[in-house]
Amino acid sequence: MTSLTLPPPLHDGTVRVRPWRDTDLACVEQAAQDHRIPQGTTVPARYTTEAGLAYIARQHARFTSGEGIALAIADQRTDQAVGHINLMLRPQPGVAGIGYWIVPAARRQGIAARAVSLATTWGLGAGGFARIEAWVEPDNHASRRVLETNGYLREGLLRSFFTIGTRRADMLVYSRIAAETAS
Ligand SMILES: CC(C)(COP(=O)(O)OP(=O)(O)OC[C@H]1O[C@@H](n2cnc3c(N)ncnc32)[C@H](O)[C@@H]1OP(=O)(O)O)[C@@H](O)C(=O)NCCC(=O)NCCS
Repeated sequence: MTSLTLPPPLHDGTVRVRPWRDTDLACVEQAAQDHRIPQGTTVPARYTTEAGLAYIARQHARFTSGEGIALAIADQRTDQAVGHINLMLRPQPGVAGIGYWIVPAARRQGIAARAVSLATTWGLGAGGFARIEAWVEPDNHASRRVLETNGYLREGLLRSFFTIGTRRADMLVYSRIAAETAS
């Protein structure tokens, strides 16, 4: 089984991936107002300070409980949090699932693509994962581009794979593998 380690703060000159802090509440509040983020995550659909702090505490708990690694995406210059990224352990040894979101005001600036690049490089390298996979709804073109620009390979369509609210959703599965990265 992959032993779970926290990465050091990851950065590329523009974006920093680092642990969530209680001072990041404004980011959770903005995410709560997005129509898509609360549907597929535990971001509270009705934001309160208490619910926001509980969200941040849950991200730390994912590591202490051994579920995975859940970090904030921040602007490297200001350190202001603008999004979230996680690598969650799948049941198969050595496999992680990647998930991410960016608050609406910070989108289309390449931030998700940079954060996915940092997390993938670390995950398949020092993080010790053999495979990182992503499940994406077919109509989520932004997320598909984020993965494709990071060299994730589309493997197929998982039909009726997820429940989102009251509906069943198909999911595309994408992956990057360490064996390919090393060659
Ligand atoms: C998906 C999401 C994380 C993208 O974040 P982002 O920071 O705006 O993405 P980037 O700026 O890094 O864009 C990466 C690529 O996607 C493209 N893109 C971004 N938004 C797009 C949109 N709405 N439609 C089509 N393409 C889009 C960009 O043009 C870029 O493509 P390129 O490499 O060809 O130039 C963001 O839209 C989001 O948080 N959505 C809601 C939550 C979600 O869907 N999470 C993913 C679940 S699988």
